[in-house]
Amino acid sequence: MSSILHTEPLCGEIPLLVPGSPYSVVVLLQGFADPQGFGGAVRADGSVTLILPKDWTLVSSRRDPPSKDDGVKTALERAALGPMIVDTGGPWAREALLGALARQNVAPGDVTLVVGTHGHSDHIGNLGLFPGAALLVSHDFCLPGGLYLPHRLSEEQPLQLGPGLEVWATPGHGGQKDVSVVVAGTSLGTVAVVGDVFECNGDEDSWQALSEDPVAQERSRKRVLSAADVVVPGHGAPFRIVREASEPETKGGQETLQEPKAGGEEFTSHWKCQEGAGLL
Ligand SMILES: [Fe+2]
Repeated sequence: MSSILHTEPLCGEIPLLVPGSPYSVVVLLQGFADPQGFGGAVRADGSVTLILPKDWTLVSSRRDPPSKDDGVKTALERAALGPMIVDTGGPWAREALLGALARQNVAPGDVTLVVGTHGHSDHIGNLGLFPGAALLVSHDFCLPGGLYLPHRLSEEQPLQLGPGLEVWATPGHGGQKDVSVVVAGTSLGTVAVVGDVFECNGDEDSWQALSEDPVAQERSRKRVLSAADVVVPGHGAPFRIVREASEPETKGGQETLQEPKAGGEEFTSHWKCQEGAGLL
């Protein structure tokens, strides 16, 4: 039986904590994109998300830094033993990021892995805060000190970081090397932190204009919609994906936007980005 998808914004203040085991997800900073009203200018920054392993304090207290002698699989798994950041925001968000981390009792030196979903300045502008962390920026994986390790990440083969924690290749928005982080086992189900695969909830009429490869991005969006229960987009509030077994009702005056079918599912969204917003 096909199902119907629609999205609902997740209510709650930022930081938004989604507890889970073995990983909790904390949206530290919510991305935004505000048009400035002249020449297409947009003021924007990307979402920043923290992934916390259960008992990470205990783990980090006995954790050795990643070693150059690790195989890539071991290096990835070791890097995921401590707090992980997915996207860092732009350099102008430095103080906000430090403050948000401190409120979670996480010091920059505690962070063991930083994932940059793609190479745009509003997503990887604070990598310099984490010289002791392993970095996975797009498809480039390196250990502290700049030791780059090859891996086999592809759309068919995610990188396994830990139980229910994966990096997916989700090409399209920034090119062929974009990635997303997918966390299973949270209190809200599977959470996908996707960078600009989704600009925001209800971006159906705007994402293609910002995409380097709309065909690939459409494919990435379908995969995310098929697997996730919650999406953390690059430039807006997190949103739920709600699945229903029956056909949707037509509600007077409510806008319905169509997303290409994802694995036999039909997608509608009743919420849009801020009217006229330009998105990055
Ligand atoms: Fe972007």
